[in-house]
Amino acid sequence: QISEAEVALFSVSSYACQRRTTLDNHNSNLTDALSLLAENAELNNEDGRGVAFRRAAALMKALPTQVISMSQLRGLPCLGEHSLRVIKDVLENGVSSEVESTKQSKRYKALKILTGIFGVGAKTADRWIREGIYNLEQLRHSGQTLNRAQKSGLEHYDDLNEPVTKAEADAIGEIVQKAVDSVLTGSQVALTGGFRRGKLTGHDVDFLITHPEEGKEVGLMPKVVAWLESQKTTRNSYLESKDGPARPASNMDRFERCFSIFKLTKGKEQETASHKIWRAVRVDLVVSPISQFAFAVLGWTGSKLFERELRRWAGHEKNMSLSSHALFDNTQNKYLRATSEEEIFAYLGLEYIPPSERNA
Ligand code: GTP
Ligand code: MN
Ligand code: MN
Repeated sequence: QISEAEVALFSVSSYACQRRTTLDNHNSNLTDALSLLAENAELNNEDGRGVAFRRAAALMKALPTQVISMSQLRGLPCLGEHSLRVIKDVLENGVSSEVESTKQSKRYKALKILTGIFGVGAKTADRWIREGIYNLEQLRHSGQTLNRAQKSGLEHYDDLNEPVTKAEADAIGEIVQKAVDSVLTGSQVALTGGFRRGKLTGHDVDFLITHPEEGKEVGLMPKVVAWLESQKTTRNSYLESKDGPARPASNMDRFERCFSIFKLTKGKEQETASHKIWRAVRVDLVVSPISQFAFAVLGWTGSKLFERELRRWAGHEKNMSLSSHALFDNTQNKYLRATSEEEIFAYLGLEYIPPSERNA
């Protein structure tokens, strides 16, 4: 038994955007449990519960050492009653009974499998489950109409659920750069998402494209996609997308963006292992005008919770509205211009947090 005096106490800021969260997680037993419950809540459209579990998980990720006793958590923000119960269960029993029963539940398993299909969200998965579809085999034989993205997602299911490596991300980056160079000289490509935060693998590869001359980027996405599609005969090519140029982007996000699937030729070693010379990889492409580039880079680097917390900080603490396009100061009633992420943090009155420490 460890006495109260011996356990380390932590002092942690309440917003994730005030904290430095590296990939070095000392409490993965706890964060895994909380993240699974967050995921389950999100899959069931319980957004409030999802965010509460995400915040609790993010707080545990930011702790400098492993938690061994509940008494260490006294006074910490972001830990609600439910999250504390889960943490207690893991600390005392090694596992959380709620997490274990969720993992075993037929509904959770089906939601995981079905939303693992590119182009299938929680709503569609829920509808299918209500019609008795719990797995890919049942879906294939159900006669359900799938859109093009979903068909492609189902076809490349295993590839797309296999983590993307940094080497694969770099290879995709070269293809994107080549496409962009071919359609508009001087265009710039920036890696965003998890790989920019230093992650070694990801579920996709995220890129932001811009041009130093404002306005030149207009109409760039359809051209890039057309170029990639014209490469069908080459080693690497473009397979399918959703929310691409065929469908206008939603009002929520005015960027031209394209959530797509690339065909990536494998290296020699991987080739012999699987007998397949290429694999499908999820790639997100976003085009931004240079005037919004800093906001776009910040907004698409993540993590998702870090972004959410930045926007909450801006609104609640600074009376400002932050998006992937701009920062608006509601007090001064004006937009605040920025050409770097550092400037945006400064406007927000936050210490600059580099991408590698945004892994909340
Ligand atoms: P992995 O891909 O799983 O490695 O993690 P990731 O952090 O790269 O996640 P993801 O690719 O899903 O998202 C990367 C960033 O893009 C995150 O900051 C998200 O908040 C952001 N993002 C994702 N979808 C949207 C969207 O529809 N609009 C905006 N503005 N941002 C988005
Ligand atoms: Mn990503
Ligand atoms: Mn993405």
